[in-house]
Order: sequence, then C-alpha cells, then structure tokens
Amino acid sequence: MSKNENNETNFGFKNVDKLEKPKMVKDVFDSVSENYDLMNDLMSLGIHRLWKRGTVELTNLKQGDSVLDVAGGTGDLSLLMSDIVGENGEVILSDINEKMLKLGKARSIDKNKLNIKTAVADAENLPFSDESFNCITIGFGIRNVTNKEIALKDFQRCLKPGGRLLVLEFSKPEMPVISDLYDFYSFKILPKLGKFFAQDEDSYKYLAESIRMHPSQEKFKEMLESANFKKVSYDTMTAGIVTLHIAEK
Ligand SMILES: C[S@@+](CC[C@H](N)C(=O)[O-])C[C@H]1O[C@@H](n2cnc3c(N)ncnc32)[C@H](O)[C@@H]1O
Repeated sequence: MSKNENNETNFGFKNVDKLEKPKMVKDVFDSVSENYDLMNDLMSLGIHRLWKRGTVELTNLKQGDSVLDVAGGTGDLSLLMSDIVGENGEVILSDINEKMLKLGKARSIDKNKLNIKTAVADAENLPFSDESFNCITIGFGIRNVTNKEIALKDFQRCLKPGGRLLVLEFSKPEMPVISDLYDFYSFKILPKLGKFFAQDEDSYKYLAESIRMHPSQEKFKEMLESANFKKVSYDTMTAGIVTLHIAEK
C-alpha cells in the first residue's frame, strides 16, 4: 500500500483523505439532524425501534450501572437505557455533532430522564477515564468513524473489566433476492425519500453507500478481537440488514 493510500479512507464510495472525512460526516449530520427521527421511522417503517430495543435487552445493564452511548445522536438508545440503570445509575449520551446532541438533550429533558448527561465526544478520543463504564453502546455510528481501530481501543480503555460493548450497525443481506431488493431500495428509493421529506438527497445517498463500505461481520469481529475484546459474537436481524456485535473486556 502506498503512503497515499494509507492516508485515505472511504466516504461512501469516494476515496477521501482521512483528515477530510470528519468534516464531511459532520456536514451530513448537520444537514439531517432536524429530520433525523422522522426519517428513521420512515426509512425503516419503524423497525429501527425494535433493533434498538433488542440491543438494549442484551446490554446486561442493571440498576446503578454506568453506560456510555457513543455516537448517540438524538438519544434513542440512551432513553431506553435510562430506565434500566435507574436513578442511581448514569447514562452518558455522547456524540461528536453538537446539533444531534442538542436534540438528544432536549428529548431527555422532555422525558424527564434526569440520569442522562450529555457530552460532546469523538469516538476516537473519548474524554473519559479508564475503566469508567459497565457498558458502551454505539448504534449506527461506527461506520461513520474514520479510524475504527482507534475507536475500538478507546472503547476498550473506558470499559470496566467484564464490561460489555454493543455495536449495532447496518450490514448487507446475504440472500440474493433480498440483497437485490435492498440495493434497489437503498439506491433508488432512499435518496428520493431524503429529497422529498428532508430536501437532502446526498446525505441519504451517503447512507446507502456507507453501509456497502462497512466491513463484513467477520471482518468486524476480527477488528474487535484485535482491539483485545473477548467473547466476541454477532447476531443479524431483519434478514441481515442490521447486525449487532457484542464483546466483553
Ligand atoms: C446514524 S446516527 C446514529 C444516532 C443514534 N445512535 C441512533 O441510533 O439513532 C450516527 C451518529 O454518529 C455520530 N458520529 C459520527 N462520527 C462520530 C465520531 N467520530 N465520534 C462520535 N460520534 C460520531 C454522528 O454525529 C451521528 O449523530
């Protein structure tokens, strides 16, 4: 690999300099933030709520625990986990994007979830002490992170021994018929939904492309093992459209 290739990463189907990607990702989420929750319901017909519930059920969290929701955006996972850890526990809803986080904070206040705190934080450089959390979650965030290996090492650092990491992310359906239908939906319909409902075709094109560029389940499992996670496993949901990786420190 040439030096130049080492400095490059993908932004959807484009190759870009690694230093440019964070700004490009920021622009996407600045643009989609206002319609983010509506579009999630529309694009998935509400099924993203089941994926998120399924994830939270496997956190093993209990009353009094401390959990970090990385790339937590408007806070869906944080809101669900808030009730589980209770008033003696703590949920840190973190995201690199201030607009997304502001919406998440407003929702947590509206719903009176007093144990949710927010923090602007880059997954690659978390501003938390070693061994602070019983659990770390990241939902639909990891594929946007430029240096995933660095982020995984930082998750490992911030987890308590025995703590659990859950990575929920889009994946690719394996059955050919479903895969063809999914491609048609992703590349032909999704960007048009984005254009119609959010006046933003490009961000939804990026969404479809970034899913295709995300490492396979087996590759991502290897990445977790290389970051020294143990008991790494994964489960696919909805015919492989989404995968949940679970790992322990
Ligand atoms: C698709 S949203 C997911 C939001 C939420 N977790 C959910 O499931 O609805 C992806 C989020 O990742 C955030 N993000 C992207 N790169 C990040 C990074 N390096 N560190 C932290 N957050 C990041 C974006 O700002 C955005 O809010």
